[in-house]
Amino acid sequence: MFRKLAASALTAATLMATPALAAGGLGEITDYSFSFEGPFGVYDRNQLQRGLQVYTEVCSSCHGLEFVAFRTLSDRNGPELPDDQMRAYAEMYEVWDEELRDWRTAAGPDHFPESQFEGAPDLSLMAKARVGFEGPYGLGLNQLFRGLGGAEYIASFLTGYTGEEDLQAGTLFYYNKAYDGWVSMNPVLFEDMLEYADGTPATEEQMAQDVAAFLMWTAEPKLVERKRAGFVGVIFLSVLAALLYLTNKQLWAPIKRAAKQD
Ligand code: HEC
Repeated sequence: MFRKLAASALTAATLMATPALAAGGLGEITDYSFSFEGPFGVYDRNQLQRGLQVYTEVCSSCHGLEFVAFRTLSDRNGPELPDDQMRAYAEMYEVWDEELRDWRTAAGPDHFPESQFEGAPDLSLMAKARVGFEGPYGLGLNQLFRGLGGAEYIASFLTGYTGEEDLQAGTLFYYNKAYDGWVSMNPVLFEDMLEYADGTPATEEQMAQDVAAFLMWTAEPKLVERKRAGFVGVIFLSVLAALLYLTNKQLWAPIKRAAKQD
């Protein structure tokens, strides 16, 4: 029995020690502090709106967000666009309608389009597909304290170009130190390339962090609700534990007293 247990514990340990195979995130990642980190972290609505602007003006020409519906842009704990702005935003896009067998203007329930550029991955879930931090031997200790670092990875990736270029078989590759390798995506963020609606100076760092925060939201739109539910759960369980402890004491008290008298 014991030997069996020991064997399975050993298998579990070796399984855990094999680092998860995650592409990217093995290079230099800056540990940004985002508003949504920590047990009480929430998304910063203004930052998500700025990130949406960067996505729209810079990334959307290549990258899609096919798992995100336009109407969620009005959700609480998200970018919280007023309904009319959300609808006006959706109307900038055209979607293919199976029933009409034609293109039509997009509306709230429609999704963002797919990627438009060959080889450009969809960004809806990118912040969860990439990890910025790896613990020693993949034990997850680092992640426990610093988070998975998906948003950190994206922001570091966007600012991680060193300027080195390499032409291979007619395609230009760019060295990126967050990716720790050569990528075919060129640097896309340049200071003051856009004007933020809320007047925030559009530095490269600012835009990178804003769009990374926005992509964290697209990947985890219910992050805040989940944290709150977890917190309520912890409080509930603590109260329950205290009550059970007291009940237990009370139940056994007469028997203990009787035992002492014997
Ligand atoms: C000109 C088209 C183009 C634009 C504009 C563009 N990208 Fe990309 N992006 C690509 C391509 C192509 C790849 C695939 C690169 C590769 O794997 O070599 C890519 C890859 C990525 C990756 C994945 C990197 C990895 O770890 O595999 C992320 C994240 C990303 N882009 C984010 C963005 C963001 C955010 C923006 C807007 C600020 C943006 N991109 C703008 C073409 C583009």
